[in-house]
Amino acid sequence: MIYLTGLVGFLLVLTAEARVGNSSQLRFCSETEECLLFDLVCEGSEYEVRQYDSVKWVSTNETSYAMEFAAPKAFMRLFKYITGENENGKKIEMTAPVVVKMPEKKFWERGVYTMSFLLPAEHQKNPPKPTNNRVYIHETPAMNVYVRSYGGWMTTMSDSQNANELSTALDKDNAKYQETHSAVGYNSPMTLFNRHNEVWFVAEGEPVCLGSN
Ligand SMILES: *[C@@H]1O[C@H](CO)[C@@H](O)[C@H](O)[C@H]1NC(C)=O
Ligand SMILES: *[C@@H]1O[C@H](CO)[C@@H](O)[C@H](O)[C@H]1NC(C)=O
Repeated sequence: MIYLTGLVGFLLVLTAEARVGNSSQLRFCSETEECLLFDLVCEGSEYEVRQYDSVKWVSTNETSYAMEFAAPKAFMRLFKYITGENENGKKIEMTAPVVVKMPEKKFWERGVYTMSFLLPAEHQKNPPKPTNNRVYIHETPAMNVYVRSYGGWMTTMSDSQNANELSTALDKDNAKYQETHSAVGYNSPMTLFNRHNEVWFVAEGEPVCLGSN
């Protein structure tokens, strides 16, 4: 029994570590060595459903009127963390995607934008502690996510348009999901072509997958 428990624990650790992996496994994740990997549950014409394991991120909050103002400040703070603003002055590899949890707010209101960098596999277990108190380590649970992909630039406009289209499709299929979505990017601002962005809604309960082919 003890052996069995040990084995199960060992397998869990293995699969957990496997979920931040070689970017060669993901067609649209090509600018970093490691990417967040997932299992594709199903794929329809309007969205796909992905299963993600629990993973750790380094995150920061920025209160602002728009993603365009919040993102550069949040990005700088996280970039400083991975380039040495942490307890051991460690250099940490950039990964993809970069995720921005979007606030539920009216256009004219301020809201909290939470930007997260995925920690590479070697730092998943014991991430170096941030030295800036506005930067924190955050763990997301295992989850199913409704995903819609789009090209071009991620802006407040393109993100909210795609979030609206995705939630409309999900409502039509009676899908249950968390209210706030995330804007998810895979490219550096220097990349001009073949950009890949996503909108994520975290599924609640068993995910639905209608309209799959
Ligand atoms: C990722 O996979 C590619 C192709 O399979 C391989 O050449 C490369 O060494 C791998 N990189 C890492 C960091 O494992
Ligand atoms: C960051 O913002 C989120 C969303 O508003 C909030 O739930 C969380 O407590 C904040 N965390 C910190 C450390 O400020």
